[in-house]
Order: sequence, then structure tokens, then C-alpha cells
Amino acid sequence: MQSLNIIGAGRLGKTLGRLWQENGVLRVQSIYNRSLESGRAASRFIGAGNAAESLAAMPAADLWLISCIDSEIGAFAQQLAASDLIDHSTLVFHCSGALSSEVLKALKPALTASAHPVHSFAKPETSLETFAGTSVAIEGDPRAGQILSAAFAAIGGEILNIDPSNKSLYHAGSVIASNYLTTLMDLSLQSFAAAGIERDRALRLLAPIVSQTLQNNMTLGPEKSLTGPIARGDIATVSAQVESLAAVDSQLALCYRHLGLACVELARRGPLSDESAAKLIELLSEPTR
Ligand SMILES: NC(=O)c1ccc[n+]([C@@H]2O[C@H](COP(=O)([O-])OP(=O)(O)OC[C@H]3O[C@@H](n4cnc5c(N)ncnc54)[C@H](OP(=O)(O)O)[C@@H]3O)[C@@H](O)[C@H]2O)c1
Repeated sequence: MQSLNIIGAGRLGKTLGRLWQENGVLRVQSIYNRSLESGRAASRFIGAGNAAESLAAMPAADLWLISCIDSEIGAFAQQLAASDLIDHSTLVFHCSGALSSEVLKALKPALTASAHPVHSFAKPETSLETFAGTSVAIEGDPRAGQILSAAFAAIGGEILNIDPSNKSLYHAGSVIASNYLTTLMDLSLQSFAAAGIERDRALRLLAPIVSQTLQNNMTLGPEKSLTGPIARGDIATVSAQVESLAAVDSQLALCYRHLGLACVELARRGPLSDESAAKLIELLSEPTR
């Protein structure tokens, strides 16, 4: 079994380390965290691997996962490149969604890659149970891609090969769908609060309609899932809502208008007439009075 060293075994690193170790895919050998105690805790969680006090104290390994915070990945790549721990057959990878394997270029001629699991590792114990079925976007050296595809597939990952030049756009896609959805929920709650509906009641109100909308999008796609005043071309209702929101909070009204413009573009791919679309665009483009 190939050996794996982990620099930064936090939420993602220790989850993947344990999944690979438990499933006999990779053997976790050495772990380097900011504090030795944290490294020891990660080693206990994984059930393997020795905590190292420094990078220099780590032994050589077949694979290295750099899973510290994104802003430090490049610096660790430089440090590893300057050490005698790697050679042309070593595979070094990171799991950032925002960065490509380019950030590891100092390590050439070692094999380098990025492998981004589209998963929220908020609680490692839960992620151990829910990781299977996660898509993992991989790019980098072809040989590294093959090795990582096999390693992730062995723990239930669904491999998606991407071009490094598209990494930022690909990551923006996940950010819009997951992070912006959360922000949309918050904007919705602000609107309910302004209408005097308390938070818990509003969340109960939202649960079935939000779940249904998500389900519709997954099965029918966005074009067939859009309902409501913009899809119907109901200009009076949209106008009244812009006014009401502007009276409460200009930022809320601004978000409603900007997202409304995106809704119009989506509705145009359905039955919304060009005439209604033009009126809605004019209304939603106006600066809030
Ligand atoms: N969390 C997610 O849901 C998720 C999803 C997809 C991809 N990712 C990617 O996975 C990577 C790790 O994210 P994470 O959420 O797992 O981070 P995290 O939980 O904050 O863990 C980061 C780990 O890096 C260690 N570390 C930080 N700076 C260090 C340094 N200078 N020297 C040595 N160790 C250092 C920390 O050590 P200490 O414990 O000692 O502080 C910690 O164990 C990032 O590239 C992120 O973009 C994360």
C-alpha cells in the first residue's frame, strides 16, 4: 500500500486520511499540523500516522496531501521542493477548490495535482458517513490524476476531470449554489422579519417550499422550476415588492433587483414574452428610489 503524509490534517485532511486508512487504500504515515497536540489528535482520529514536530522531521512518502489553509499551500510547496523529501516519482496534491495545481509548480519534476471534493467537511465524524457519492474535481499531471482518481473512487468519490484554466469558474459554480443559497435564505428571513414574522415561524414556513424548489430544480432543471411573479410577467407585483423592500432596507431591495434581472433572463427561456421581459428589465434596472 502506498504511503501518505499530510501537512495540515484539519477537517478535510483527517477525514480523507481516515477513509483511506480504514479502506486499505493509502497508509497514513506522518502528519504535520501547526501544533503537535493537534497533529496527535488527528493521528488518533485517523487511527494511524505519527505527528511530526516540523516538516523536516517527516519521512519521505509516496503521496503528500497539503491540506492546510489555501494561503499557505504555495509556501509549503516551496519548502517541500527545497527539501530532500521528494523526487520525480512523489505525488503532491492539495484539495482547494479555488486554486489549481499551478500553485505546486515549484515541486516539478514531482507529480502534482489538485483534487477538490465538493463536500462540506464541517464535522469530520459526519463526513465519514456522508462522503460516498461526493464529486471530486481533479486536474494536474495525467499520472497524478490517475492515481488520485483511483484513491478517491475507492472511498466513493465520483471523479470529474477539469481543465486547470477552468478551476476558478468551476469553483464559482459551487460557491453560487451552496454559499449564495445560504445568503438567499438570510435575505428571505430579513424580509419576513420586516413583515413581523418571527424567525422560527419563518423557517417553518420556508422548509417545505425551499425543499420542494430544490427537488424541482434537481429533477426538472431551473427553466421548468421557476414560478412566481417574474415568471408570470406580473409587473405590478414586482413593482410593489421593489417599493416595499426599498422602504425597509436599500441593500435588500438592491439584491432583489439584481437577482430579479437574472430571473428575467431565466424566464425568457420559458414562456415570458419579450414585451414583459423588457418592462421587467426596465423596472428592475432602476436605482431604488
Ligand atoms: N472544509 C471543507 O469543507 C473543505 C471542502 C473542500 C476543500 N477544502 C480544502 O481543504 C483544505 C483544508 O481545509 P480545512 O477546512 O480542512 O481546514 P482546517 O480544518 O482549518 O484545517 C487546517 C489544518 O492545517 C493546519 N495548518 C494551518 N496552518 C499550518 C501551518 N502553518 N503549519 C502546519 N499546519 C498548519 C492546521 O493545524 P492546527 O490544527 O494545528 O491549527 C489544521 O490542522 C483547504 O485547502 C480547503 O480549501 C475544505
